[in-house]
Amino acid sequence: MPELASRAHMQNILPVVDAALKTSGCSLAELDAIAFTQAPGLIGALLVGTQFAKSMALALDKPLIAVHHMQAHVLANLICEEKPSFPFLCLTVSGGHTQIVLCESPLKMKVIGETIDDAAGEAFDKTAKILGLPYPGGPLIDKYAAGGDPKRFKFPEPQLQGLDFSFSGLKTSILYFLQNAGKSLAFKEEFTATEKERANFIKDNLADICASIQARIVSILLNKLKKASEETGIKDICIAGGVSANSALRKGFKESGEQYGWRTFIPSFEYCTDNAAMIAITGYYKFLNKEFADLSVSPMARSIL
Ligand code: KG4
Ligand code: ZN
Repeated sequence: MPELASRAHMQNILPVVDAALKTSGCSLAELDAIAFTQAPGLIGALLVGTQFAKSMALALDKPLIAVHHMQAHVLANLICEEKPSFPFLCLTVSGGHTQIVLCESPLKMKVIGETIDDAAGEAFDKTAKILGLPYPGGPLIDKYAAGGDPKRFKFPEPQLQGLDFSFSGLKTSILYFLQNAGKSLAFKEEFTATEKERANFIKDNLADICASIQARIVSILLNKLKKASEETGIKDICIAGGVSANSALRKGFKESGEQYGWRTFIPSFEYCTDNAAMIAITGYYKFLNKEFADLSVSPMARSIL
């Protein structure tokens, strides 16, 4: 609900900035610059942040730095002690994006693969919705999958050439599978279950269904990452974005690293989902490079990396 999100930003921006300053023990005078998220995202929420940052920069006479949200997710990997060396690959998986990014330097990145339809986070959230779970469903699928058998149900892997991803076919097959109460992956009239049969099937098999869905999403992501590493010869590999908090992806990613000789990097849990530290570290690199914005800068709902 974009309108509610904008209002929540208006209500929270002052207390949040205030709390951040207090917690860090940093005064306004000590700040070197003001970095903010310019794009992409919900335009109302971005407008609140942009206007606030501009006002702060103007009032304090500090430089203003515009940050791209997806670039910031990648650079969250540079916050921790142990950092990847350039060039590295990053699989960025969030609610709106699924990308493989070739990162040559903090500010030089190229998207070499991305989703042609749904993002990985959407695949989690939309299938969770079909299962009757609330939004955001990703963390809940992760939670219920813990006690399930990931090999029990076999969902299809899309046969897409190159490094691009597709998740819409998986979502459709899960929808049909549940409409048929687990009897078929394709829609079959003769297997159409009643509302009650479907609810019972989900209730009795929730852990195995969640584990099987999660295993397929993770294998789609890791197979493409393996291909990207083979094609580029790059073995320093990171993951980032909200879905990198997923326990099966984190485990599978580490195992792939051991199997293929990658050095693997995952931001600490709190830097995986949306956070302000990733905006700050991107601001830091832009500050070193003197990439400042002027007061005419506008937020953008959509923007390619
Ligand atoms: O990066 P993020 O916090 O926000 C966006 O920029 O989109 O990512 C949010 C996404 C949601 O789709 C959410 O379901 C997913 O990350 N997510 C997870 C987990 N934690 C968050 N998906 C699967 N397993 C998780 N543990
Ligand atoms: Zn994000």
